[in-house]
Amino acid sequence: MAVGIFDSGLGGLTVHNAVSARLPDVPFVYYGDSAHAPYGVRDADDVYKLTTRAVERLWDEGCDLVILACNTASAAALRRMQETWIPTDKRVLGVFVPLIEALTERQWGDNSPPRQVGVQNVALFATPATVASRAFQRELAFRAIGVDVEAQACGGVVDAIEDGDFILAEAMVRSHVDALKRKMPNPEAAILGCTHYPLMAETFADALGDGVKVYSQANIVAESLADYLKRHPKMVGASQESKYLTTGDPQTVSSRATQFLKREIKFVSA
Ligand code: DGL
Repeated sequence: MAVGIFDSGLGGLTVHNAVSARLPDVPFVYYGDSAHAPYGVRDADDVYKLTTRAVERLWDEGCDLVILACNTASAAALRRMQETWIPTDKRVLGVFVPLIEALTERQWGDNSPPRQVGVQNVALFATPATVASRAFQRELAFRAIGVDVEAQACGGVVDAIEDGDFILAEAMVRSHVDALKRKMPNPEAAILGCTHYPLMAETFADALGDGVKVYSQANIVAESLADYLKRHPKMVGASQESKYLTTGDPQTVSSRATQFLKREIKFVSA
């Protein structure tokens, strides 16, 4: 049994990279649904159907614990999955809540009432589906008061990254940051609320300028998973087989992944 990591495409590799560095003895099975990316322009039902199909495939690989390394799936499908679909011997965790806990200076599972936190003006960059779900604002409101969130739906960025077109991705990021700044000229913090965006982290930071703290999920999720596995060690079993599965063309996806992570990654058909 390994731990499953799911994303609509290649963005979840940013999380995979961090969790495998933090937990080098844990085998991970990655599933990227590149044939159906981007999820961010799909409706919630569609995201639910695709996500549950992918998670079932990871269960078949012996991964009783699956991380949705995809904000769009975490925002649009996870709650419904947890309420109605996940059997009691399996776990599916999202990437949203650990990020919000970090932003609101909370430890895991601190369910105390919402309180004032260090930041007041927060810029959220995410896919259109994540922004439309308002899941970020909802989770934040459980934990913090007085935080103003301005969300920018970054249409097109994921497509450009999946296509390996970083020139286009950079131009789009800059135009989305400009659009956000017209609505909120001085954010104190920015959330990269899509696991593809850390691949453009330098462009986000440069366009946002000095003095904006940029939160991205990879390391936050890695810490949170390490903590979870300490409390639930049985969720990882004996299997040592790590692998990368894709619904896209394995050759193209492998060469993009190798380009992104600057080390050889070999995908096989899901
Ligand atoms: N990387 C994903 C996310 O974190 C999905 C992006 C997409 O497929 O649109 O939202």
